[in-house]
Amino acid sequence: AADARARAASARTLEELRALLDAFDGCALKGTARQLAFADGTPGSRVMILGEAPGAEEDRTGKPFVGRAGQLLDRMLGAIGLDRNCVYIANIVPWRPPGNRTPTPQEVAICLPFTQRQIELAAPDILLTLGAPSTQVILGLKEGITRTRGRWYDYALGERSLRVLPMLHPAYLLRQPLHKRFAWRDLRLLRRELDRGV
Ligand code: URA
Repeated sequence: AADARARAASARTLEELRALLDAFDGCALKGTARQLAFADGTPGSRVMILGEAPGAEEDRTGKPFVGRAGQLLDRMLGAIGLDRNCVYIANIVPWRPPGNRTPTPQEVAICLPFTQRQIELAAPDILLTLGAPSTQVILGLKEGITRTRGRWYDYALGERSLRVLPMLHPAYLLRQPLHKRFAWRDLRLLRRELDRGV
């Protein structure tokens, strides 16, 4: 963990961070994944989206949120006038867990220094955490996503202060389409915050 922290802190740019992560052997998921799925979208965007872990399609292409859940995410963003090029997208673990299982708390913790550095370097104002694991690790909360979603949290990271909005994960919404109504509420909150300007 100390090794991950030191490595992550040494990255001056997102390209450096990606290379450091690619060369990092401290997380066992790297051994079973095909490749790193580091990020998609545009660094420096006001909104950063943080998911859980790459799935099969992400593992194949090296990009987060390009499978079915990612396509739903694209439509959700589109509904409030955004697209993936005007946000920055990453996951709390950048390698696909075997069989798409949930990453273990230990795997998430090992990757956390890289995730935090990635947030710092991408420098968003707003962080959208999708699902319980990313919400819990960022905000240090134990509650599930149905309890934490739909309101704003403040998150201090180094010199920065970010606004965090937890939301239901699109993969969950594919299984529970009736719950999309909660996601619409959350997307409206995001749109309103963006319209308020900085
Ligand atoms: N689910 C995630 O959490 N992340 C992805 O990149 C794809 C699906």
